Amino acid sequence: MYIGADYYPEHWPSDRWELDAEMMKEAGFNIVRVAEFAWVNIEPQEGQFEFDWLDEALAVLGRYDISVILSTPTAVMPAWVARKYPETLAMQADGTRIVWGVRKNNCFTSGAYRLLSERITRAMAEHFRDTPNVVGWQTDNEFGNPVCYCDTCRSDFQDWLRAKYRSLDDLNRAWGTHFWGHLYGTWGEIPIPVDPVTHNPSACLDWQRYHSWLNVRFQRDQVRILREVCPDHFVTHNFMGLFQELDYYDLAEDLDHVCWDNYPVWAKPEIPYKASIAADLMRGLKKQNFWIMEQTAGPGGWGAYGRNARPGEMRKIAFQQVAHGADGMVWFRWRTCTAGREQYWHGLLGHDGKGGRRYSEAAQTAGDLHRLSPVLEGTTVKASVAIIYDYDSLWAVRIQPGYAGNNYQEAAQRLHRALFRAGVNVDIVQSTDDLSPYRVVLAPDLYVLPDAVARALSRYVEAGGILFVDSRTGVKDETNLCHTRTLPGLLSDVLGITIEEYESLGHDWGRGEEYRYQVVGGEEFAGDYTAILTAEWVQARGAESLAGYQEWHLAPYAALTRNRFGKGWGYFLGTVIEEEGFYDLLIADILSRAGIAVPVAPPAGVEASIRANDDRELLFLINHTEELQTVQVPAGKVELLSGVETGETLTLDRYGVAVIRM
Ligand code: GLA
Ligand code: ZN
Repeated sequence: MYIGADYYPEHWPSDRWELDAEMMKEAGFNIVRVAEFAWVNIEPQEGQFEFDWLDEALAVLGRYDISVILSTPTAVMPAWVARKYPETLAMQADGTRIVWGVRKNNCFTSGAYRLLSERITRAMAEHFRDTPNVVGWQTDNEFGNPVCYCDTCRSDFQDWLRAKYRSLDDLNRAWGTHFWGHLYGTWGEIPIPVDPVTHNPSACLDWQRYHSWLNVRFQRDQVRILREVCPDHFVTHNFMGLFQELDYYDLAEDLDHVCWDNYPVWAKPEIPYKASIAADLMRGLKKQNFWIMEQTAGPGGWGAYGRNARPGEMRKIAFQQVAHGADGMVWFRWRTCTAGREQYWHGLLGHDGKGGRRYSEAAQTAGDLHRLSPVLEGTTVKASVAIIYDYDSLWAVRIQPGYAGNNYQEAAQRLHRALFRAGVNVDIVQSTDDLSPYRVVLAPDLYVLPDAVARALSRYVEAGGILFVDSRTGVKDETNLCHTRTLPGLLSDVLGITIEEYESLGHDWGRGEEYRYQVVGGEEFAGDYTAILTAEWVQARGAESLAGYQEWHLAPYAALTRNRFGKGWGYFLGTVIEEEGFYDLLIADILSRAGIAVPVAPPAGVEASIRANDDRELLFLINHTEELQTVQVPAGKVELLSGVETGETLTLDRYGVAVIRM
């Protein structure tokens, strides 16, 4: 297993490198990532390359058996690039160019920038192709920004639209430009929709797709060169978990595996729910295991620093990721830097370069993971529950949320949190994926619903699947126009409902109070709940109503419904319930109908996840709390970190972890 740190040899005198490498080896590290911001060190002037310093640093690392991931250093352009080619600096929406001096400030359509990127990529690839300890490449760093509004980007956007729609009539129809007299007579008239809140929502969605495509294209130009010159190296990129600007499925397509940068907040007693769903998304992008490329290693901050990791906390966030499919663990950063914006973004070593408590915990974690690595090999998470995570819907909700406070990621996380509490693994999938491997599919906020997807979901339920959807499902078509069918359109039969009216309970219009409606559930859902944010006036047409509103005007309508369709079930929730316990009941009902049994019922704050292959199953238990936690486990199995056989229960220390071979 590869374990290591993000390393910046260019920040330190070369006579320190030896000690760094020695300390890394001592910690059980065997990999570093380097050079993602070192363009100017490698190409100090245009076309003049200096590799000696990096050769020397890599050679030192090599003597300590430390492998290297090199980065294409295009995330920071050298000052000479901005001076010689000012058009490479991205233009902001107000028409001014970004002032050079931070990072990620380039325009991705600039021909000069694309050529310079290809040249540095090729020069590095050719130079390091045969360096024995180089094993792979990271493209750029954290793709996604900036958004550029220059004329080149505008005409490139117009070309992209022309390739997509072919005829202007089709674009006018797809965008509904008859509204407000926005019909286009030539491609050149099409502007960049600078304001996602007031511009045409269809134009905004295509602009977001274009921005994503542009980043993917830029990466692809580099990947092509790396594949040609270095066929034996892997190519990856450091993703940012729930980052929203790019379609991560597309960005992942050209890569060998996904890596991501995990920066949960150190906090008592925060449960890193977000890192849990992010890990599942990262595994879902290519349906394979992933790595952590930057794992937070101490207090972070660009001005003021945040909380510190408490003893055990670093180890448990590392195990959380491994439990969800991480096969590599790279800490950010090796040593806290003494210069620049990130002086307070702490690494494993302090400013003083000494290996203290955090270094020791990373070393302990590395030891644990190396010992586990033979059994981890070839295992991954196998889930029978899937959450559809759809960037079109996410973006369309941001552009035009419908009800006030609609938040795509929050809708997905609400369900994921309930599954976390239930101790159930989840796969994150695309709406177009084959869903037949799953017994349950949850599709939160599936706002953009192409007919083909609606039909596939119907067939899935008919064949025995269980589908859950909620407010605003299927309102939009793929060009972000409203469907003309009565809601929920093609899903009406599956769900056994129709929706003619709906309302926001929040107040984006700045008037009146936020409404909160009382909801009362029957049978499995017996209890009182609070509806917030939205109420769709759901008419049951064959579906059972499992919970209804107390409000007099909503008496005829349902809040939660369940419908038998074919061999499966369709659930619909037309509101957001404030009480998280409601979602626990919902998930319990769905799981029992699907016949999914949980391996252990984790106490609050304990996460359970299983990695498996055909011949073994490894149950990870992670205590995210600062209290001892006792979990009922299968007896007579081996806990692999301690080597001790399990009894009926197992007690986890604060922030403790266990891995049981089932
Ligand atoms: C990001 C970047 C790193 C560093 C950290 C901390 O994840 O990739 O270079 O800036 O944040 O700020
Ligand atoms: Zn531009």
